[in-house]
Amino acid sequence: MSIDQAFNASIEYYDDWMKKALPNYDDLFGTALQIIPFQPQAPIRVLDLGAGTGLFASHVLGKYPQASFVLYDIADKMLDVARQRFSQYPAQFEYQVGDYRHLQPGQTFDLVISSLSIHHLSDPEKAGLFSNIYTLLREPGVFINVDQVRGETETLSRLYWGHWLEQVRRSGAPEEQIQASIERRTTYDHDASLADQVAWLKAAGFINVDCVYKNYFVGVFLAMKG
Ligand SMILES: C[S@@+](CC[C@H](N)C(=O)[O-])C[C@H]1O[C@@H](n2cnc3c(N)ncnc32)[C@H](O)[C@@H]1O
Repeated sequence: MSIDQAFNASIEYYDDWMKKALPNYDDLFGTALQIIPFQPQAPIRVLDLGAGTGLFASHVLGKYPQASFVLYDIADKMLDVARQRFSQYPAQFEYQVGDYRHLQPGQTFDLVISSLSIHHLSDPEKAGLFSNIYTLLREPGVFINVDQVRGETETLSRLYWGHWLEQVRRSGAPEEQIQASIERRTTYDHDASLADQVAWLKAAGFINVDCVYKNYFVGVFLAMKG
């Protein structure tokens, strides 16, 4: 199964699943919103990479009601859910089905966001994508990435994923969804360490690079241009 098929198969339960499966969901996205440096009424242009059903974009829209968005994803059915979610905002949302490893220069953005997606790329692809994002950003521009972080050692990885399994089972998520997620993780995930992700962002040209919040295997990364 390709990655778009795997995510297309999850649309029925995806949003509910994310809120159960992501430890400290509110803290993660609350922090991601807090660190966006633009004024709330600013008509910022936002690119969401691996937007899925549009969860991250929906939080940004809540804070930036004048923003306009390009939602980019390889899984067309995930974007169909986003289309429904944002159907009241036809002038503010554009949808692009594609693989962001082949992003083309052209449009520019004030803010690029991504959540739980870039860890699907190999390490060189991640570094290459960070460079492309830098090019797509205006100055001043900001990239915020909520993404998985690899434990630096086997012991830390076991700690992260043991904690995840415990809390997702406690949340009441059905066992078949848990198993489907583990299957997606072992097949498609290539988590990078925090240090590597920060280093690649700096190498791409970003300044003020930081992982401003981390909860076990998920971090909120901030990177600025200009
Ligand atoms: C775990 S979901 C996250 C969706 C959304 N950002 C969220 O936080 O709910 C990962 C998404 O990344 C997309 N994706 C993975 N690799 C991609 C690629 N190379 N190009 C575009 N989208 C990709 C998948 O199709 C999926 O919708």
